[in-house]
Amino acid sequence: MSHITLTIDDARTFLQEQPESLQKQVKAIHKMIHERTGKGNDYLGWLDLPKAYDKEEYARLIQAAKKIRKDSQVLVVIGIGGSYLGAKAGLEFLNVPFKKNKLEIVFAGHQMSGSYLNELLNYLSNKRFSINVISKSGTTTEPAIAFRVLKNLLEQKVGKEEAKGRIYATTDKARGALYTVAKNEGYEMFIIPDDVGGRYSVLTPVGLLPLEAAGIKTKEILKGAKDAYNRYKKADLLENESYLYAVTRYLLYRSGKKIEMLVGYEPNLLFLNEWWKQLYGESEGKDHKGIFVASANFSTDLHSLGQYIQEGERHLFETVVKVENTASDVIIPKENNDLDELNYLSGKTLSYVNSQALKGTMMAHKDGGVPNLLLSIPAMDAYTFGYLVYFFEKACAMSAYLIDVNPFNQPGVEAYKKNMFALLGKKGYEHILK
Ligand code: PA5
Repeated sequence: MSHITLTIDDARTFLQEQPESLQKQVKAIHKMIHERTGKGNDYLGWLDLPKAYDKEEYARLIQAAKKIRKDSQVLVVIGIGGSYLGAKAGLEFLNVPFKKNKLEIVFAGHQMSGSYLNELLNYLSNKRFSINVISKSGTTTEPAIAFRVLKNLLEQKVGKEEAKGRIYATTDKARGALYTVAKNEGYEMFIIPDDVGGRYSVLTPVGLLPLEAAGIKTKEILKGAKDAYNRYKKADLLENESYLYAVTRYLLYRSGKKIEMLVGYEPNLLFLNEWWKQLYGESEGKDHKGIFVASANFSTDLHSLGQYIQEGERHLFETVVKVENTASDVIIPKENNDLDELNYLSGKTLSYVNSQALKGTMMAHKDGGVPNLLLSIPAMDAYTFGYLVYFFEKACAMSAYLIDVNPFNQPGVEAYKKNMFALLGKKGYEHILK
């Protein structure tokens, strides 16, 4: 039995061809993924990570997380894209709303807002803090600037020597400016394997160090990912839900549904959406192909985007994430006068009401011409987070290969950078403005 279930019944009627008819093609792509013969095959290290991660480094990471918690009130995690979103998604997924954690995790270097960084400096000025700077290339502008500024503050506060022991660099094993700085200064380093790209790096120290420092049992995350690894190692669409998801979305795309919305009914899923958008958007959007990925948080967005989804242009489909069991709940009370006319719900839990909203919305959207896929997860716990990460990663590789693009590069990201560097006067980019 799979830990998560995928129901595609509400999408089938929209398809001219059913997913099962693509079994042969799926088998061929599966072989290509596992034999590492497809486009971008240098970046398939994530495939075996759940069982082949570096155990010694992981033991060191657990110790580093302990030290961070002992040294600090705040951990500043610096990174962008794949060096940011996995940890953020995990933290939000597992967050207990309104509960103050012993170690606060804040992010920096994930944008270039001066006021954000300035306010962060003010906030940290009277706090004990550590830094985890994450960049695979080691040259990305946003985290590099944030690191320079925050490192200065830490050195001013505790001195250069003490600061060294509170800075952790997660980067390439031998290359890049961050590697050079870390080596030079003697920071503790964690490695992003050569064959794991940024957006596939949640299960490396990129995601695991901040999550472990936050007090999350990353062993459980890895266990979930390993079970997903075992579950999805065959090509059979009847058993491999991650491939079934990939094929269904591909067939919907071919039938004109060019936009996929990942929809959750729990606010904890907001950053899972963001991580998922990066994974699929950066992996598939190339060669003028690919599903445009969007997201929504229901029922909140039913009061805004809901109108468009129900009656706007019919180029959408939805993948709905349903959480079967929430960690806690509220029972709706009875009131004798029933002036607010809610007594028909008294004695019911809010989760029950939420689940009926989900059901009703799926029915309405399907009737309105929006196919729905339903992904049910049992709970928002560390194990399920790991399982889900692997589910989406494996599906993403299959999906990108179905549309015949390289799932692991992102050549389009360079275009804005070149112009920005030229405008900023960086050496070597002068010709661009001529
Ligand atoms: O998925 C990717 O490769 C990108 O989104 C990168 O993670 C992002 O650009 C950050 O790169 P780096 O870790 O090299 O700073």
